Amino acid sequence: MNTKNTAFATAIICWQKRYGRHNLPWQCDNPYHIWLSEIMLQQTQVTTMLPYYQRFLRRFPDVHRLARAHTESVMAVWSGLGYYARARHLHATAKIIACKGFPQNAASWQTLPGVGKSTAAAITIFAGGGHHAILDGNVKRVLTRVFAIEQPTNKAATIHTLWKLADSLLPTHNIKPYTQGLMDLGATVCVRVSPRCEACPLSKQCLARQRGIERRLPHRSPRPIKSVRHIAMALIYHHNKVWLQKRPHAGIWGGLWSLPEKEATADLRDYCCKKFGDTLTPREEMAFTHTFTHYHLHAKVLCYACYKPPTSSPTAKWMQKGALADAALPAPIKKLLLAFFAP
Ligand code: ADE
Repeated sequence: MNTKNTAFATAIICWQKRYGRHNLPWQCDNPYHIWLSEIMLQQTQVTTMLPYYQRFLRRFPDVHRLARAHTESVMAVWSGLGYYARARHLHATAKIIACKGFPQNAASWQTLPGVGKSTAAAITIFAGGGHHAILDGNVKRVLTRVFAIEQPTNKAATIHTLWKLADSLLPTHNIKPYTQGLMDLGATVCVRVSPRCEACPLSKQCLARQRGIERRLPHRSPRPIKSVRHIAMALIYHHNKVWLQKRPHAGIWGGLWSLPEKEATADLRDYCCKKFGDTLTPREEMAFTHTFTHYHLHAKVLCYACYKPPTSSPTAKWMQKGALADAALPAPIKKLLLAFFAP
């Protein structure tokens, strides 16, 4: 390791001791807590995930309780945190761990559903036993700035370069505070918009700052413009209940309960007619737009009052308005229904 690399790690470790996060509830040696926190922190910030983390642990205090739970209740506790594949993978992984025990190294963690190379490294390090580089979004931002890497970070060749760089910067000791420091620095100082360079322990070494380009990095190749997908949904209610369908596991909102949905209004009316006959009275129409990573979803919502309900099945049921807040529903559907039934 050359002196430049040593200076990088030393600056991070010293900064972490003084300014990093030390009282996060998963900073312990419990692999269940560490694994859960790292999965929740993929695509989610600490302040957003904290209440979900605490609620999740109250409901599923250990990996065996999680493994034994119904998918339905796992999804319900996750509801609102988004990226639901994470919850499905977490549950699948819990079942594996309940049989085989917790993995003992990063390579074994990485074989489990939902655990990529960086997450596997972070879990192993925080659980006390690893010496690996990590490369999450925060770390990519720190590295591209400090080393003025201008190539697009959404390209495989740049990601490869960044992994090699991250490996070359690893200190031989203090790997835990170093890793935590990198994450914390990216989350609190080297932030995407308006980085706080005056508070950064790397500002003297930072090539992007020297060149005045820190706000332009990391650079990503432009994404194609998001398309708009139009769908029609039916909000069918009977007194204080709403008719919900279980979504298939594959695709958006996989495994959650949602409103019946079709590509076109005519098909939706057809579905309502077949399922409910002439027991429906059309009411108001509503609409909402929800943005996913790759497209905007525009939903037209046709409301119907139903006077004689059909019976529930494993994939379709009536839900009481009082149960909506804690149910496994996609966030925009929950919001729509809570507003619809609000007094
Ligand atoms: N982001 C991902 N993992 C984290 C952790 N353990 N602490 C703070 N931020 C994180």
